[in-house]
Amino acid sequence: MRDQCAKVHLQFAFKLCLSLSALCPALSLAHSKCVLFNFGDSNTDPGALMAALGLYLGPPSGQQFFHRPTGRFCNGRLYIDFICQNLKMDLLSAYLESSGSDFTYGVNFAVSGASTEVSLYIPFSLSTQAGQFGHFQNRTRELRRRGTGAKISEKEFNNAVYSVDIGQNDVNLALVANSSYQQVVDKLPIILERIENSTKALHKLGARKFWIYNTGPLGCLPQTLALRKKNDSELDELGCLALYNNAAKAFNEGLSKLCDNMRLELKDAIVVYVDMYAIKYDLFANPAKYGFKNPLMACCGNGGPPYNYVDKKTCGEPTANACIDPSQYVSWDGVHYTEAANAVIASKIMSGEYSKPYLKLESFCKEVLF
Ligand SMILES: *[C@@H]1O[C@H](CO)[C@@H](O)[C@H](O)[C@H]1NC(C)=O
Ligand SMILES: *[C@@H]1O[C@H](CO)[C@@H](O)[C@H](O)[C@H]1NC(C)=O
Ligand SMILES: *[C@@H]1O[C@H](CO)[C@@H](O)[C@H](O)[C@H]1NC(C)=O
Ligand SMILES: *[C@@H]1O[C@H](CO)[C@@H](O)[C@H](O)[C@H]1NC(C)=O
Repeated sequence: MRDQCAKVHLQFAFKLCLSLSALCPALSLAHSKCVLFNFGDSNTDPGALMAALGLYLGPPSGQQFFHRPTGRFCNGRLYIDFICQNLKMDLLSAYLESSGSDFTYGVNFAVSGASTEVSLYIPFSLSTQAGQFGHFQNRTRELRRRGTGAKISEKEFNNAVYSVDIGQNDVNLALVANSSYQQVVDKLPIILERIENSTKALHKLGARKFWIYNTGPLGCLPQTLALRKKNDSELDELGCLALYNNAAKAFNEGLSKLCDNMRLELKDAIVVYVDMYAIKYDLFANPAKYGFKNPLMACCGNGGPPYNYVDKKTCGEPTANACIDPSQYVSWDGVHYTEAANAVIASKIMSGEYSKPYLKLESFCKEVLF
C-alpha cells in the first residue's frame, strides 16, 4: 500500500511526513486542531434526520453513553463519534440541529436515508450536503467579520478533512427495485459521477483532504436477510445475501477507481480511499474475535432468530425489544451497527491499515497543507 504514496502528486517530503510523521516532528506539531466536515447517511448521522423532519426516534436508541435518544440509529455512539473522541475533538453536531450545536471542530452534514440522488422522502442528497457546506462556509465568513459564528478560520477550512460515507442507500435502493446484478452495475456510473461531482464541488470551495469510505456488506444486514432472502441458495458462506454483497463490491470497485482518477486530476489534493467493506465484513466473518455472538441477528427488533427483524415491528416501535447485552451484537436494529461494533470499526479506521494511500487519520488531519 505504501508505494501508492509515490503516485500521489504532492510534494514528496510532505508525503513522507504523513506516512512517517516521526521523522518530521516540527511539521506534525504545527497544527494540532483537527477539523472535520462529514457527508453521508445514517452510518454517520448524529440526529439530522430527526431534526430536519421534526420527528422523534424514541428509546431504546441512545441507551448507552448518551442515556437519551439523540436521533442516532444506534444504542450509543456511531463510528464517527469514536473518531472524534480519538482525535480529541468534541463530537460533531448535525448541520441541521438548531439547538445546542457546536461547530468549532467542523460540521456533520450526514442525513439518514441520504443517497447520491435527491429523493422524495430524503431531499438531503450528497450534492445538497455539499451545497449546505457552501452555505455554511459563506455564513461563517460573513459572521467572522462581526466576531460571531462558527470558530473556523480560512486556514482551517483548507486544512480540514472532508469525509464522505455514501452509497449504501444507492445500492440498496437499486436492489429493492428488484433489479438484477447487471441492472445495478449499469446504474453505478451515474452514482459514481454524482460522488465525483460533489467531491469536485467541495474541492472548488477549498477542500484539499478527502477521506472517502466505501460501502459495507449490505447482504449481511439482518434487514436485508429478513426482507430480501427468498431461498437459502442465495446465501454466501457467512449466511449473507451474495447478490447484495456483490453489488456493494461492484460499487466499491468503481469508487476505488474514481479515487485513483481524482488523485491524478486534483493534483493539489489528497484523496484517501478507506475500505469500510473489509472492516465491517470482518465483524461478520470473525465475530468471536471481538466478543460478538450473533452477527446476523439484530439486538433490537422482533421475531427472534435467525435475524430478529420483522417489518413494521422494528427498533423504536413499541413491539420491538432490545437485547440484554448489546455489546455481544454487531447489528443494533437490523440496519445499523451497535456502539460496540462502531468502536471496533473506528479503531480500524484510525489504524490507517485500510486506507489507500496508507495514511493515519490522526496525522492526516494535523498536517498543514497551506
Ligand atoms: C457563497 O458566496 C458566493 C459569493 O461570495 C456565491 O457565489 C455562492 O453562490 C454562495 N454559495 C452559497 C451556497 O450560498
Ligand atoms: C419485487 O418482487 C416481489 C416479488 O418477487 C414483489 O412482491 C415486489 O412488489 C417487487 N418490488 C418492486 C419494487 O417491484
Ligand atoms: C456532473 O457534472 C458535470 C459537469 O458539470 C455535468 O455535466 C453532469 O451532468 C454531472 N453529473 C451528474 C450525474 O450530475
Ligand atoms: C432454491 O434454490 C435451489 C437452487 O437454485 C432450487 O433447486 C430450489 O428449488 C429452490 N427452492 C425454492 C423453495 O425455491
